[in-house]
Amino acid sequence: MSNRRSILVIGANGYIGLAVCRAFVRAGWRVYGLVRKPESAQSLAAEEVTPIVGSASDLSFLDQLFAQIKTFDVFASCIEPPDYAAYYNNAIVMIRKIAETSNKNGVRPLVLWSSGCKDYGYTTIDGAPDLAPHTEESPINFAALFLAQRATYSLKMFEHTDLFDAAVLRPTNVYGYSSSYYGIMFEYAAAAAASDTVTLKLDVHPKTILHAMHVDDCGEAYVALADHSNRKSVGGQCFNISAHKYETAKVVAGALAEEYGISGGAEFVEPTPQDAAGMSVANKSLFGYSQWVSSEKIRNLTGWTDRRMLFTENLHAYRIAYEAALQAGHEDTVRIKARWEVWETQFKDLIGK
Ligand SMILES: *[C@@H]1O[C@H](CO)[C@@H](O)[C@H](O)[C@H]1NC(C)=O
Ligand SMILES: *[C@@H]1O[C@H](CO)[C@@H](O)[C@H](O)[C@H]1NC(C)=O
Ligand SMILES: *[C@@H]1O[C@H](CO)[C@@H](O)[C@H](O)[C@H]1NC(C)=O
Repeated sequence: MSNRRSILVIGANGYIGLAVCRAFVRAGWRVYGLVRKPESAQSLAAEEVTPIVGSASDLSFLDQLFAQIKTFDVFASCIEPPDYAAYYNNAIVMIRKIAETSNKNGVRPLVLWSSGCKDYGYTTIDGAPDLAPHTEESPINFAALFLAQRATYSLKMFEHTDLFDAAVLRPTNVYGYSSSYYGIMFEYAAAAAASDTVTLKLDVHPKTILHAMHVDDCGEAYVALADHSNRKSVGGQCFNISAHKYETAKVVAGALAEEYGISGGAEFVEPTPQDAAGMSVANKSLFGYSQWVSSEKIRNLTGWTDRRMLFTENLHAYRIAYEAALQAGHEDTVRIKARWEVWETQFKDLIGK
């Protein structure tokens, strides 16, 4: 075996996981991908990623793994589980076991742990002098409740310096290919286009900051940190990852209306508490979650930069890629749609209380 560096990507068949796998493959790494289901193994193999079928909640796969490889330079965890605490508790046992074997064989790993930028909550809208205009009853605050666990548990990754260094990565929303949550924006515009309304109606503030990046750029950011020559400046740190520039709800909705042939363009109505005629809370949280994210830290340290076009700069290509993924019944589109419905129910339950 050559002395190429190796990475184990946890949640390798997920939306970000796959982009991370591809980026490391392109960068010349030996890439292993952990997936739960045997059905997911084929799609990883097609990407030149060695699939490992197993899960953090059942470590019986480890013997098979160690028979193939004993050392990992890097782990990347790209999972967004519904129950973060339970996932963290299992994952940490697994990662410690694999890291222990790796250390015994002379390699101390770096763990790149994905959290998300929403851990910080929302920021002000575009052009606002200071505080966010969202009020306490804004649905966005309910989203924060779900995300609180993730924010807390992610930082626990730093507590295992006996076996590995860790960095917590906070990517913004990502788009491209099957488009993850941004696919919901296409759905929203398509539904409006198919109805008899003449405008794309949104009850969020038009100056809401929508800061996202292409998923390929996100994958490259993981490589930039893994490749960085000074591990000490990466370990124990959090890194935001985002595009060089943000867009606003007005710009995004305007571009969507144009792309979908909605003649009256985007129309912003007064934000109101959720009602039968208004936007669903889940949809509102996508178009109305204002957040500007600075990624200066990773840019300064590693020289990483985003290269793919912004969402509205290449909207048509992103739309047809999303539709192609839907046509193909891509796992990610099915998963996101199902999760979106669950979120809507959870929001409603919370608001009902
Ligand atoms: C989001 O909006 C679309 C289009 O109006 C709608 O079909 C869908 O049900 C909404 N999603 C949720 C989770 O409410
Ligand atoms: C990440 O972005 C958030 C939100 O803009 C900001 O509060 C935080 O300081 C940034 N963190 C880093 C490490 O750049
Ligand atoms: C990044 O580098 C610039 C220019 O040297 C500096 O002004 C800025 O404070 C740095 N930011 C961070 C987060 O390190």
